[in-house]
Amino acid sequence: MASDLVRFSVAVPEPLLEEFDAYTARRGLAANRSEAIRDLIREHLVEDDLSSPEAEVVGSITMVYSHHASGLAERLGEIQHDYIGCVVSMMHVHLDHDNCLETLAVRGPSGSIHELADRLLGTKGVRHGKLVCVATESTIAKGCEHVHSHTHQHER
Ligand code: NI
Repeated sequence: MASDLVRFSVAVPEPLLEEFDAYTARRGLAANRSEAIRDLIREHLVEDDLSSPEAEVVGSITMVYSHHASGLAERLGEIQHDYIGCVVSMMHVHLDHDNCLETLAVRGPSGSIHELADRLLGTKGVRHGKLVCVATESTIAKGCEHVHSHTHQHER
């Protein structure tokens, strides 16, 4: 649902605007400076919404670990059982002789999802991992008109 557009003027230092134009050109958005700024505002609002512990989010937790580490798979399983309502689905891939890749689809309050990810990714033996949260439609509706690929990431 499109709403009426409001025009407003913004004062920006020239070097900052030049940098912004270069950024939008790299992303192929240079033709429409307004759309580029609208995208940035939406992205920021969604990120702000997702940072609230009560916000309902969906996302994925991806991690790589060695299956030789003693008891590690069991520990990761136990943690997931503590958040049974939050883990929607799980995929396990035997990557190579040593490593396993696990991706969990998660859904729930942002606070619980971050806690689950922190516990899993902080478990000794997990080599690399990442939580990616995306806004649900209800989160989007607060500040935005359409869904983009706006994500909120935690690198480890
Ligand atoms: Ni495996």
